[in-house]
Amino acid sequence: MTSATSTACGPPWPTRPTAVFNAAGYTSVDGAESDPDAAFAVNALGAETVARAAAEARAALVHYSTDFVFDGASAREDDELDPPSPRGHYARSKAFGDRLVAAAARRHFILRVGGLYGQGGRNFPSTVVRRLRAGETVRAERDRVCSPTWAAPVAAVSAASATTPHAGLYHCTSQGEASWEEFARAAAAVGVPAERVEGVATAQLPFEAPGPRRAVLDNRMLRLRGLDRLSSWQDAPAAFIDSVPAPDPR
Ligand SMILES: NC(=O)c1ccc[n+]([C@@H]2O[C@H](COP(=O)([O-])OP(=O)(O)OC[C@H]3O[C@@H](n4cnc5c(N)ncnc54)[C@H](OP(=O)(O)O)[C@@H]3O)[C@@H](O)[C@H]2O)c1
Repeated sequence: MTSATSTACGPPWPTRPTAVFNAAGYTSVDGAESDPDAAFAVNALGAETVARAAAEARAALVHYSTDFVFDGASAREDDELDPPSPRGHYARSKAFGDRLVAAAARRHFILRVGGLYGQGGRNFPSTVVRRLRAGETVRAERDRVCSPTWAAPVAAVSAASATTPHAGLYHCTSQGEASWEEFARAAAAVGVPAERVEGVATAQLPFEAPGPRRAVLDNRMLRLRGLDRLSSWQDAPAAFIDSVPAPDPR
């Protein structure tokens, strides 16, 4: 983030942004269990600081929240009116961040995403593509469900929403739901060698933090505002795989 001090005769920012996109976050769900203060410092207070700076610059603020603010107990998809029920410190820090951001910046667009993946960074779908292309086995959770969501349409929604006057809280995930095992099998079916996807129970994996067994959101407010650009999760793996460069053969 750019830092600058206020002056009486000019804008406090060296440039005048029209929108600020804050994708920074303390994202280690397990790490937050052993160091909750670090998670709250970044995801709540840090997010509030960015929101205040955006408001001071009179810029729209797009902030990213999470499907993990819900405990997954609901029989239907959670929409924006459902009260958060976070389990674990990562989820609690993000839910608190949502409240602080909304209070600090009137022109806030809080997008709750989940199962997000894209090129670069650490995410399970990128690992799936890399490992299947290399002919390696992929172990994928079969009993935890979300809406795997490619970052590309989320970016489109982010840019479009920030130009509207409709500030608020939005759920922003793909339609439908899948386990990561189902995702890996779908990825294997559309272009990477179709082999060696092994479904495993979450309990077999070394996760510490509690998380929702089923994290599925309804994009009700995006839909009602005419801003929803997210289709079924099944539409994305082919385009995503095409976007991942083949490994250098050298
Ligand atoms: N990925 C998902 O499935 C998912 C799901 C739900 C919500 N979200 C939310 O979406 C946002 C982006 O997630 P992501 O998956 O892109 O996370 P990520 O890959 O872990 O990236 C987080 C970024 O935040 C930066 N950061 C961390 N602490 C910071 C600090 N104190 N000051 C400045 N920058 C800091 C990191 O910088 P360094 O690399 O330099 O540490 C990193 O670039 C987060 O708010 C996350 O909670 C993600």
